[in-house]
Amino acid sequence: MWLYNSSIGRKVVMSLSGLFLFLFLLFHGTMNVVAVFSQYGYDQIVHFLGTNAVVQLMVPVLALFFIIHIVYSIILTIQNRKARGTDRYAVVGKSPVEWSAKNMFVLGLIVLIGIVMHLYHFWAKMQLMEWTGREAADGYELIVKLFSDPVYVCIYLVWFVAIWYHLSHGIWSAFQSMGWNNTIWYPRLKVIGIVFATLVCLMFAFVAIAFYMHSLGWFDSIGQLWQLGVH
Ligand code: HEM
Repeated sequence: MWLYNSSIGRKVVMSLSGLFLFLFLLFHGTMNVVAVFSQYGYDQIVHFLGTNAVVQLMVPVLALFFIIHIVYSIILTIQNRKARGTDRYAVVGKSPVEWSAKNMFVLGLIVLIGIVMHLYHFWAKMQLMEWTGREAADGYELIVKLFSDPVYVCIYLVWFVAIWYHLSHGIWSAFQSMGWNNTIWYPRLKVIGIVFATLVCLMFAFVAIAFYMHSLGWFDSIGQLWQLGVH
């Protein structure tokens, strides 16, 4: 099949699945920012998502895109290495491309380990519980509890940095794979990739840090003011 057999096809699959995952992150980050300012607003969104049939359908689609993205990244990496043959070893430690490729692998691994950890922290205690007929934990309470621990705040911040690296490279590379690689758009896409990656990662970092401050009692007044307006 073209999407599997040809190199362009595989890159298109990588790009489209990546852009879909990025849209999820944009939404997920925005939703989490709401939690900082309003528990009520956050609960409303969670309730809507939990009861909307279209959203429920999107959960397995999201999982599928994650799996496709990871599997294709492994296939592409193996094939790239094969294509480059033994040349790869002749430049180890000298070429900046080789240097970044080595680091991208470590960063990709951190992103993946972070996702498994994150699913264990939240998804396993919420959606998985529901699916298995048990009582789901409250999302807001889980966020409050997790980010009251400075160790987890630090672990998550490291994870967000790895995601930033991955996204800033990924967004640019996705558009490039789709053919937007002329001289005008090449530098522009790099900037766009960095701006969007920074925006998304700052949202996540803001949430982790804000909830840590909340645990120290700093954010109570802001949250309460906002909630008074909503109720
Ligand atoms: C401050 C940062 C974050 C917070 C507070 C947060 C919070 C949550 C919560 C509460 C859930 C459970 C939702 C449910 O099961 O109904 C969840 C699920 C999930 N999160 Fe996050 N998240 C954060 C960052 C991230 C990042 C950076 C990624 C991806 C790289 C991510 C990917 C996911 C995925 C794939 C799910 C499972 C799908 C879903 O339930 O919607 N999250 N997150």
